[in-house]
Amino acid sequence: MTTVQNKIVLITGANRGIGKAYAEEFLKAGARKIYLGTRDTANVKDMVAAHPNIYVPLKLDVTKEADVKAAAQTASDVQILINNAGIALMDGLDDAKAANNARQQFEVNYIGPLLITQAFAPVLKKNGGGTLITVSSIAGHVAFPAFMTYVASKFAVHSLILSSRALLAAQGTKVIGVYPGPIDTDMARDVPMDKFPPAMVAQETLKAIASGAEDVFTDPMAQGLYAALRADPKAVEKQMLEMVQQSQKAA
Ligand SMILES: NC(=O)c1ccc[n+]([C@@H]2O[C@H](COP(=O)([O-])OP(=O)(O)OC[C@H]3O[C@@H](n4cnc5c(N)ncnc54)[C@H](OP(=O)(O)O)[C@@H]3O)[C@@H](O)[C@H]2O)c1
Repeated sequence: MTTVQNKIVLITGANRGIGKAYAEEFLKAGARKIYLGTRDTANVKDMVAAHPNIYVPLKLDVTKEADVKAAAQTASDVQILINNAGIALMDGLDDAKAANNARQQFEVNYIGPLLITQAFAPVLKKNGGGTLITVSSIAGHVAFPAFMTYVASKFAVHSLILSSRALLAAQGTKVIGVYPGPIDTDMARDVPMDKFPPAMVAQETLKAIASGAEDVFTDPMAQGLYAALRADPKAVEKQMLEMVQQSQKAA
C-alpha cells in the first residue's frame, strides 16, 4: 500500500492529542472513512459534526474486551488500524505507587494494543492484509529513569510491534512501529523539553506508508537519540545517568 486515499481507518484514542492529529491528517490524505475510537463518544461529537461523511464515532476502551470485540464486529471494513491510545505516569524506584502505575500502564499501553491486534488481525486479513500502525515511543528504546514504568510498557509495545510484524507477514499485513520523542499534547504537559507538534507524528507516519518504511522516528529528538543508541548504547545509558544525577543535585 502506498496511499491512504480511499482507505478505511480506525484510530484508538482519537479524541485528543496524537490520535486527533492522526484523524485530521488521514482525513486530509483522503481516507474514505475514519472510525474515531474513544472511551466516550461525546468527546468526538464536534469532530463528527464537522465531517459527518468521514468520521464515525466508535466507543472503544482498549482495556475492555467487550468493547474491543464489538469494535471488530462494527468496524469489520477496516484496512488501516492505528493503536494510539496510551497513558503515562511518572515514578521512580522510591515511589510507592510504582507497581500500581506499572499495572495500569501495562493494561492500557500493552494489553490494550494486544487485544486490538488480536481482534483486528482477521479483519485486516479479510480486507486484503492492510496496515497495522502501533505507537510506542523513543521511550520504547531508551530507558528514561523518570518514567521508569511507562518506559517498561513502551519497551513491551516495541516487542508487540516486532512479533506482530513477523506473525502477520503471511497474511500480508504491513506492520509499522511509531516512536515519537516529546510531543506537545496533554500527556507531555509537564515534560520540560522542547516538544514537537502532534501533526508531525501523523505526517511522518503517512510518509512511511508511502515509502514502505517500517519504523518511524517522528521528530529530530527521537531520530537523534535512536542514532546515538545505535552508535553507542553505553553512551546513551551514561546520558540517562547524568540526567538522574542532575535532578538529584537540584532536589
Ligand atoms: N506526547 C508524547 O510526548 C508522546 C511521546 C511518545 C509516545 N507517545 C504515545 O502517543 C500515544 C498518544 O499520546 P498523546 O500524547 O496523544 O496522549 P494524550 O494527549 O494524553 O491522549 C491519550 C489518548 O489515549 C486515550 N486513552 C487513554 N486510555 C484509554 C483507554 N483505556 N482506552 C481508549 N483510549 C484511551 C485518551 O482518551 P481519554 O480522553 O478518554 O482519556 C486520549 O484520547 C500514546 O500511546 C503515547 O504513549 C506520546
